[in-house]
Amino acid sequence: MKDSKTKRFGILTAGGDCPGLNPAIRGICKAAHYTYGMEILGIEEGYRGLVEGKGRILQPHDFSGIIHKGGTILGTSRERPFKDPVKVDMMIENYKKWNLDCLVVLGGNGSQKRAYWLAEEGINVIGLPKTIDNDVEGTDMTFGFHTALDMVTDAVDRLHSTAHSHRLVHIAEVMGNEAGWLTLYAGIAGGSDVIVIPEIPYDIQKIAAHVSERLRHPEGFSVIAVAEGAVSLEESKLPKKELKKIKNEGPRAGERVSKALNKALGIDTRVSVLGYLQRGGTPVAFDRVLATQFGVKAAELLAEGDYGRMVSLKGEEITSVPLKDVADKTKYVPLDDVAIRAAKLTGAVFGD
Ligand code: F6P
Repeated sequence: MKDSKTKRFGILTAGGDCPGLNPAIRGICKAAHYTYGMEILGIEEGYRGLVEGKGRILQPHDFSGIIHKGGTILGTSRERPFKDPVKVDMMIENYKKWNLDCLVVLGGNGSQKRAYWLAEEGINVIGLPKTIDNDVEGTDMTFGFHTALDMVTDAVDRLHSTAHSHRLVHIAEVMGNEAGWLTLYAGIAGGSDVIVIPEIPYDIQKIAAHVSERLRHPEGFSVIAVAEGAVSLEESKLPKKELKKIKNEGPRAGERVSKALNKALGIDTRVSVLGYLQRGGTPVAFDRVLATQFGVKAAELLAEGDYGRMVSLKGEEITSVPLKDVADKTKYVPLDDVAIRAAKLTGAVFGD
């Protein structure tokens, strides 16, 4: 057994689930247990379990045979404990009661932010970036993204054939409230001729002109990928509060694009909201490998006692970054991103 500064740690999965959480749990736990002999406490249902003291010691059979499974064996929740100081105290008490040397948090932006806040309260934490949205700052890639990307690409492919058969305009609404990575990549992979992402507010007249041109062709059709967080130029100028209301209470982004196009062109577009199908299911090989590499890196940080960091992918390298540098930040698609350029140069329109 190799020496380890961490003898016993807790692990939780927080926020929306994604494929790759189980391979990551397996990666950390196997490396921590077999290489360093650490004890592992599995905390149930994310931060809610840390507040309520719901945890169990994980044995090798718990983290074996799970690499191919979607979701998370630990369960998750969208608990926001920092809204209530009593819950913060409860988390710290449980951390102490369980005699943990560190807490490992598998989560997206919000969960990494909470992990950092816990670090500020004096708790040792290590983060792993997960989400189908790929929008965590400090890493080139999150696990979960590639599985969702394959799913959305398949959906766009399917819409393509029916759009072609019926000479119709089909809209696929893709997850991604803040960032458009999933829509952009699936839009390119699926050959969408219009890609609408939150980073680029769209001018419906420009999209309409493009679609109308395509429909002039005798077999004309169109497949549009719209991120759930997409906004029109007019919407983007609204005060934050008003925009939030539209997003939360009004018709969904795909529906808004559909209605506007119907009005502009007098056509009948169809909308498919891909929803939670994007988050479920078996992780693809890429996510299993990335999650395993992240897990092993986290075990190494635990052994070194190198706390307050999030593991990350930078180019080809699995490395780590200080949590304080990534907490509370979103990794948006840069407007000069190579993928946007590639999409535009192959004929896709963004409405800008
Ligand atoms: O996990 C991130 C995400 O997939 C976002 O793209 C989406 O806006 C959100 O989850 C919706 O999840 P929920 O309904 O569980 O809050």
